[in-house]
Amino acid sequence: MSWCETMLLFLLFALSIPPSSQAWSVDYPSPISNVPSHWTNNNATIPYNATYADGSTIRAILVRQNPAGYAPSFACGFICAAPCDRAFLFAVFSVSIGGSSTSAPANTTATLRVVWAANRHHPVKENASVQLTKDGNLILRDFDGSLVWSTNTLRGPIVGVNLADTGNLILFDVMGKTVWESFEHPTDTLLIGQSLRQGKRLTSASSNLTQGQFYLTVLDHGLYAFVDADTPQSYYQKRFNVTDAVVQSKMNISSDEAKNGTAYISLLRGSLSAFASLSSTRIKLFNISLPWPSSAQLMSLEEDGHLRLYGWNGLSWKYLADVLNVDPEECAYPTVCGEYGICSEGQCSCPTGNSGDILFRQLDNRQPNLGCFPATPLSCDLIQHQRLLPLPDVTYFNFAHDWTTDEESCMSACLKACSCKAVFFRQQNDSYGSCYLMPKIFSLMHYEPGTIGYNLSAYIKVQMLPPPPSSKGLNATAYHVGVPVLVVLICVLLLFIKRAMAKRMQEDDPFKGIPGMPTRFSYKQLKEATNNFSKKLGQGGFGPVYEGKLGSVKIAVKCLQDIGHGKEEFMAEVMTIGSIHHINLVRLIGYCSDKLHRLLVYEHMSNGSLDKWIFRKNQSDSLSWTSRYRIILDVAKGLAYLHEECRQKIVHLDIKPGNILLDDKFNAKISDFGLAKLIDRDQSQVMTKVRGTRGYLAPEWLTSTITEKADIYSFGVVVLEIVSRRKILDDTKPEGSTNLINLLQEKIKIGQVLDIVENQNEDVQLHRAVIIEVIKLAVWCLQRECTKRPAMSQVVKILESAMDTEASSETTSRDDICDASSPLSPVPVSAR
Ligand SMILES: *[C@@H]1O[C@H](CO)[C@@H](O)[C@H](O)[C@H]1NC(C)=O
Ligand SMILES: *[C@@H]1O[C@H](CO)[C@@H](O)[C@H](O)[C@H]1NC(C)=O
Ligand SMILES: *[C@@H]1O[C@H](CO)[C@@H](O)[C@H](O)[C@H]1NC(C)=O
Ligand SMILES: *[C@@H]1O[C@H](CO)[C@@H](O)[C@H](O)[C@H]1NC(C)=O
Ligand SMILES: *[C@@H]1O[C@H](CO)[C@@H](O)[C@H](O)[C@H]1NC(C)=O
Ligand SMILES: *[C@@H]1O[C@H](CO)[C@@H](O)[C@H](O)[C@H]1NC(C)=O
Ligand SMILES: *[C@@H]1O[C@H](CO)[C@@H](O)[C@H](O)[C@H]1NC(C)=O
Ligand SMILES: *[C@@H]1O[C@H](CO)[C@@H](O)[C@H](O)[C@H]1NC(C)=O
Ligand SMILES: *[C@@H]1O[C@H](CO)[C@@H](O)[C@H](O)[C@H]1NC(C)=O
Ligand SMILES: *[C@@H]1O[C@H](CO)[C@@H](O)[C@H](O)[C@H]1NC(C)=O
Ligand SMILES: *[C@@H]1O[C@H](CO)[C@@H](O)[C@H](O)[C@H]1NC(C)=O
Repeated sequence: MSWCETMLLFLLFALSIPPSSQAWSVDYPSPISNVPSHWTNNNATIPYNATYADGSTIRAILVRQNPAGYAPSFACGFICAAPCDRAFLFAVFSVSIGGSSTSAPANTTATLRVVWAANRHHPVKENASVQLTKDGNLILRDFDGSLVWSTNTLRGPIVGVNLADTGNLILFDVMGKTVWESFEHPTDTLLIGQSLRQGKRLTSASSNLTQGQFYLTVLDHGLYAFVDADTPQSYYQKRFNVTDAVVQSKMNISSDEAKNGTAYISLLRGSLSAFASLSSTRIKLFNISLPWPSSAQLMSLEEDGHLRLYGWNGLSWKYLADVLNVDPEECAYPTVCGEYGICSEGQCSCPTGNSGDILFRQLDNRQPNLGCFPATPLSCDLIQHQRLLPLPDVTYFNFAHDWTTDEESCMSACLKACSCKAVFFRQQNDSYGSCYLMPKIFSLMHYEPGTIGYNLSAYIKVQMLPPPPSSKGLNATAYHVGVPVLVVLICVLLLFIKRAMAKRMQEDDPFKGIPGMPTRFSYKQLKEATNNFSKKLGQGGFGPVYEGKLGSVKIAVKCLQDIGHGKEEFMAEVMTIGSIHHINLVRLIGYCSDKLHRLLVYEHMSNGSLDKWIFRKNQSDSLSWTSRYRIILDVAKGLAYLHEECRQKIVHLDIKPGNILLDDKFNAKISDFGLAKLIDRDQSQVMTKVRGTRGYLAPEWLTSTITEKADIYSFGVVVLEIVSRRKILDDTKPEGSTNLINLLQEKIKIGQVLDIVENQNEDVQLHRAVIIEVIKLAVWCLQRECTKRPAMSQVVKILESAMDTEASSETTSRDDICDASSPLSPVPVSAR
């Protein structure tokens, strides 16, 4: 049954329901007037439900059908937008009912559009509830009863709810008077007739429909668009002056009343207009004229900061115009090239120094528009080693908080302020100009010299390394002397090679920090940063890890134990690890090497290690399959980089969930890479002792040489654990299933591979085909014969295309593997 027929069926069904029940007729008008009322977000209580091909699910408690076709039908209820991950909004959204075509729209994203939502800050789950209470509030609670949102109507008591054909959700009282309306609380969209009043905001939605980064607001002197940050930065302004407008209107309005005027903007047919609202009248402030087809329209502040106008074409919303039209080249949007990215005719690049040093790197080499990060992070503790890098022909979308001074004072003000990330100086006369210090840098813009009509200098702050402790410190103890000399030697050597290769033999201070390399810290600095090692994050294979803070940046400090080797090796290894940058590898920020202590400073990962998430007893708040799939792909990409893309191949040797860390967005990054070599460095390339963790060790540890294929085995184990959500070795399980690999072999024999997945819920059922593919991939990685295991780059390729399972030629070979006779490796029960 098509979704449309289904919908019509509901409508017919609804009409036949007696008015006392909690379902709503859709003939005009369709208010709900039996208070109190209560709806629970599941199919049983809300009969208007539909799930579309793309996974979007809607459950409507009110539907305002618009049969004419020139406007969409609106519905109010719960919506989980594709890719639906059990997170529902209580919202007003457009749906296509009736109209000219009865077939299902091919693309629901252009039809189902949330025009207002109550709970973007906190999506709710299945069984959340909406209640119209006796005292006149509309209240949204999550499944566990926690209060998520309320209309907070004080002017009650309300007697009903109505959804107007404009898309306005209205609570009304006995007299039929509006007590609360969704039009007064816009989210990211304005519909025709809807206003944005002074002080209110239109806030962009991010792709998962939660609150985004941009907002549009009316202040008393203009319409502004901002990108949110500690200090919001404006990327669009259209100024007006109410007093002036009153004077120009030549109306008989006292200046007192004019001062009391408040401004608002309204979306009208054919224009976005701003008005000043006075007690006796209203005065137009400006008009932005817009295309005006004879259909319904809406205007929405979108994820990228553009304010776009759409028109209804009978089946879906069609893009009509960019309302703000900030800049035709689209370089003037704050996030067009990510943070620190420079936009030039729509192309993104990172700032570069003129000496050929790499000072900034792309977050993702394949997606330059995600932005850049400083190769050495800025640290307030090392403020005296910060420099300003001049950026010729670069400007910015926002200049605010300026004062007048000379260029030198302007620059030194930035160097003195820890919060200053960049500085702009706009020349006014020979010596003076406006100085702008930026606490956060979004996308920068390139301009052709001579095209901006004023002289602008732009500088961006970069962190240099502190020079190593000076060797002229004669009062240092004898022990201390060796280290600085070595450090100096290594620095000189590295610099020398670098410069020789670049054929750029210019005079330079060899003690200058090498950008892009990890920062050296003293033990005292790290002791302070970690508050005397007070907050332990965990105990890794190489020593304990503590949380710390450098300025405002959280860090993780690993104290290495059992280091038997010399400092040169340590330094060399640190340089190797520190030069490896990949989005799926935990970044080394700095290190400490002194007499007694070897510490490594890493970026802090706010969601901790993967084991805490996949082995949870309470499965309801664990990660969805989609998130887990992304984690598997992230780990594969990180390993592929270590194995195949680094200049120097790096074998990790201890891949396990405890060494996979998750950031605030649940991106996975591998930690502890390069350390096995650091600890167990041996000329012969043969590992002297078995490293790694029981359960994850490849069988060849017992017999032959260790290669990167051992990591691939461990990766296979981790994948099985992520898929099945249980540990590889679990003594609490009944005999015969304590070892997951043995269990899997049994299940392969009877053709019930999916049985290894614990707590099979809806999520698992929905993705069973992909899950089986992923298990097959794991089995391939677990081959006893290490040469038969795939390379990590192959794994990445398969994971990236796993959704379309048929076409892949590898699929057949992996099918063979899954037949019961193939030799799966047992888990060697050895080592520590
Ligand atoms: C909507 O919910 C009802 C009641 O549970 C159910 O019978 C019906 O199948 C659901 N509709 C769809 C399309 O699943
Ligand atoms: C609810 O109905 C939707 C269809 O509208 C269906 O896809 C989904 O499986 C049902 N959920 C439950 C829990 O019954
Ligand atoms: C569906 O529509 C959206 C918005 O109009 C568009 O971005 C997307 O590419 C379309 N998807 C398909 C599969 O056509
Ligand atoms: C929702 O509530 C119903 C009835 O109380 C219950 O049977 C169902 O399992 C619940 N669904 C979820 C996902 O908690
Ligand atoms: C939605 O996306 C934003 C940013 O992309 C993220 O911060 C937030 O956690 C996400 N929310 C959910 C519920 O996934
Ligand atoms: C508006 O104009 C009046 C008179 O021209 C001026 O005094 C006032 O400062 C202006 N207000 C703003 C916010 O610019
Ligand atoms: C303007 O209004 C005041 C009182 O509000 C009135 O006394 C005056 O005559 C009016 N002037 C004109 C020109 O209408
Ligand atoms: C302006 O507003 C103040 C307070 O809101 C009010 O007391 C005053 O009467 C208003 N003035 C006019 C001219 O409307
Ligand atoms: C503003 O736009 C409206 C259309 O909504 C138009 O009728 C009117 O003439 C415009 N006014 C100005 C001053 O441009
Ligand atoms: C430059 O401008 C500043 C402030 O605007 C002023 O104090 C100064 O006298 C000007 N200098 C010259 C040389 O015009
Ligand atoms: C920009 O600087 C150049 C050279 O310093 C000077 O000749 C020119 O007048 C300046 N232009 C402006 C608009 O200040």
